[in-house]
Amino acid sequence: MGLLYERILRPVLFRIESERAHELAVDSMALLGRLGPVCRALEALSRVSPASFRPVEAFGLRFPNAVGLAAGFDKNARAWTGAAALGFGHVEVGTVTALAQPGNPRPRMFRYPKEEAVINRLGFNNEGSEAVASRLSRQVPRGRRRIPLGINLGKSKAAEIDRAAEDYLSSFGRLADHADYVTLNVSSPNTPGLRQLQDESRLRELLSAVTGANLARASAPGKSRVPILLKISPDLGFPEIDSVIGVAGEFGLDGLIATNTTLARSGPFAGAAEAGGLSGRPLFEPSTELLSEMFRLTSGKVPMVGVGGIASGADAYRKIRAGASLVQLYTALVFQGPALVERIKRELAELLARDGFTSVSAAVGADAHLPSTTPHGL
Ligand SMILES: Cc1cc2nc3c(=O)[nH]c(=O)nc-3n(C[C@H](O)[C@H](O)[C@H](O)COP(=O)(O)O)c2cc1C
Repeated sequence: MGLLYERILRPVLFRIESERAHELAVDSMALLGRLGPVCRALEALSRVSPASFRPVEAFGLRFPNAVGLAAGFDKNARAWTGAAALGFGHVEVGTVTALAQPGNPRPRMFRYPKEEAVINRLGFNNEGSEAVASRLSRQVPRGRRRIPLGINLGKSKAAEIDRAAEDYLSSFGRLADHADYVTLNVSSPNTPGLRQLQDESRLRELLSAVTGANLARASAPGKSRVPILLKISPDLGFPEIDSVIGVAGEFGLDGLIATNTTLARSGPFAGAAEAGGLSGRPLFEPSTELLSEMFRLTSGKVPMVGVGGIASGADAYRKIRAGASLVQLYTALVFQGPALVERIKRELAELLARDGFTSVSAAVGADAHLPSTTPHGL
């Protein structure tokens, strides 16, 4: 499948405008998801060794493997069952906002093949939480899925920053019943003001509202608390990370996702004209550095998802050793195609075995040098 993508599909897709190529990929994956027997055959074909196959337990959920599809690929929850067939151990759909919205004017997604990077300024184009909830209600329900499904929530562009909590709450109310976990996205760079939600007082207000609604919901018969994760920006300075982690600890968040795309431009991107969030290979080092700082600040007590520039098993392994319990990717899929998922799992299994780890979980934070006391009492 790898060669087929490299020699035939990628040259065709790369002649098509980036976002159109992306839409074709989502349509194909959605179609695959509807072909049950083909999905089962693909799943049976995936040959990975026991170490990477050992399920990963995180935030009370069981993941069949550590490698997930990051938010932004399947914004409207159309294609995630196809992604499961390609070997992903979880999918995070979204970002979904309370209101349907078109996003920014096109073109708004740009590929940089030499650097294996993408810049996007999509601006949360999505069908809105009501439409996505209605689609999910027609799909495999929670509890009967082959992989956990995360739902990533963001703020509608039309909502004032002071009403952000209300906006997230309305999506949470509609989608929580369908989610194995919910991610609060406060870190996409393409919605004006969104990243202000990482400021201490605004973050406190948001987390108080959503965790409160989660608890209230869990008291109803037959319902339970949904794990809530926070996805943060790689552009935070270390004092800001400290404050984000402190607030996340106050509200008992279940996990942290590091990181979203970056606004920073260095090396070949120093003069890049396109505005938006940069992802892929150039994001690997800064996002991994932030992940390890977060692991240190939380003394490894809060499960973390490492995302940013993963393009090989060695990259996934570095994130895990830096403190990630799970990893996600998106951009490398654009350049390497769907065979990448199995390749990463195989390489990861080999690296774990080489170093004597019997599971992903055993390697989490292996490179961290933890302080003896934790600054946040987590
Ligand atoms: C085209 C594109 C759209 C994205 N859309 C979202 C999004 O809607 N919500 C979100 O939280 N992250 C979004 N992301 C960020 C990814 O989830 C991920 O955090 C980031 O791209 C780093 O991972 P990668 O280098 O493997 O792509 C998007 C990324 C890309 C490339």
